[in-house]
Amino acid sequence: MEILALSISLAVVICSFVLSVFVFKGKSDNDSNKKLPPGSFGWPIIGETIEFLFGKPEKFVGDRMRKYSPDIFKTKVLGEKTVVICGPNGHKFLFANEQKYFTAFRPHPMQRLFRSYKSKASPPPPPMAAHQTPREGEEVKVIRQPGFLKPEALSRYLGKMDSISHQLLQAHWEGKDEVKAYPLAKMITLILSCRFFLGTDNHERIARLVDHFDDITLGMHSIMVNFPGTIFYKANKAAATIRKELLDVIKEKKFTMATGAPMQDILSHMIVVNDPSGKHMPEAEIADKIMGLIVAGYSTVATTITFLMKYVGERPDIYEKIRAEHLEIAASKKPEELLEWEDVQKMKYSWNVICETMRLNPPLQGTFREVLTEFTYAGYTIPKGWKLYWTVSTTNTNPTYFKDPEKFDPSRYDVGEGPAPYTYVPFGGGPRMCPGKEYARLAILAFLHNMVKKYKWEVLFPDEKVIGDMMPTPEKGLPLRLHSL
Ligand code: HEM
Repeated sequence: MEILALSISLAVVICSFVLSVFVFKGKSDNDSNKKLPPGSFGWPIIGETIEFLFGKPEKFVGDRMRKYSPDIFKTKVLGEKTVVICGPNGHKFLFANEQKYFTAFRPHPMQRLFRSYKSKASPPPPPMAAHQTPREGEEVKVIRQPGFLKPEALSRYLGKMDSISHQLLQAHWEGKDEVKAYPLAKMITLILSCRFFLGTDNHERIARLVDHFDDITLGMHSIMVNFPGTIFYKANKAAATIRKELLDVIKEKKFTMATGAPMQDILSHMIVVNDPSGKHMPEAEIADKIMGLIVAGYSTVATTITFLMKYVGERPDIYEKIRAEHLEIAASKKPEELLEWEDVQKMKYSWNVICETMRLNPPLQGTFREVLTEFTYAGYTIPKGWKLYWTVSTTNTNPTYFKDPEKFDPSRYDVGEGPAPYTYVPFGGGPRMCPGKEYARLAILAFLHNMVKKYKWEVLFPDEKVIGDMMPTPEKGLPLRLHSL
């Protein structure tokens, strides 16, 4: 079905090429006098999007770094002329020059999925003229400014993360010999989001939408053809369902807030916040922004937990070291006492194991920027309006930076030895560094704490196929044999 839909999509794309070739020709002529980076724009219109979306990301960048330059190459993906800046120098340059040369850019499928409140009033921007509007990215401002994800606030969440992990393991895995890691990891992640972003303990209403969150996550990096059977079509449907549920949550939240009940969640903050003219954010906009936040923290955390379970399940030596770390922490507390900030600071070995998990299975490949003003990098000109892409795949498995890159070795992150600067950046860096980093760290460690205290496990299918290139997941959901301790 997906193949059929894709064929139809390609036909649509080729037809649109015939109509639009003259528009694009004018633009490329402007770039012809400059020393542009080496590389290829691939096929007309579609560029190299297929190779970018449906292949191993490290192969996409590795092949081109070898062929064109280890520092930079040009390509065309998701409808955009794009330069990929590579390696630690590329990362350093990117993190240091935000807003000077470039600003955040969301690929068009993402813009469409998370900006329904705009697309009703105005048509989506044409591919070559998309600009980030001042309000875009406001979910990021909201999440960064009031300190919802700062350590002080997070230390309040921690006990709840601990108890939610405990309850869910008890409810879903207690008494079972065989379980699947991935579905539970997804459920835990969504339930935590409900608690901390929406301020609701009625977890089930969002957690039951888990398949829709999968669809929307896949659709963010897809070919934007809204035709039954395509990934993008499914993602749009999923977004509509989630949005509807969130609009109900917003209405209920407003009702509760009117009773004067104290509120500390991100949703309540979005409801009361004013723009400079004193206007509140419309409900549709709040729903889209909250949906964006939940999605940002969804597959990233869920896949990290899942692959963590895989690596630890396959390596009894690593499991034993983690368990010793957590039993020591548990022994320093009263039996029913929940995790506190200081406890998590002691989980150093566990965090190293999580870091190694993220190196070999990056929860997020990379992100785009839009060039604000022409600049030069590595001797090449990058024109205004082009897009810039950075990805962890230019360093994560490169033997220059990581000895025996395929080996799972948590000791790489030991104090004093850690990876060279800018070679290991799973959360990005600079002003746009992931605002959910600490939240993710606490959520994953709280889950691991409950898991190793209670269980030992083995991976049932060590050769289980990993599917999905932009968002890799184990095909069967990572079945485990569980031993209660
Ligand atoms: C293992 C978990 C996670 C990883 C590896 C991760 C990684 C990243 C990366 C690489 C970026 C891009 C930074 C850039 O563009 O330079 C990012 C952005 C972002 N992340 Fe995370 N993330 C994780 C979890 C979370 C969570 C739990 C949340 C929400 C609480 C979150 C919210 C965001 C947001 C809102 C952005 C956009 C920031 C911006 O554009 O300024 N992330 N994340």
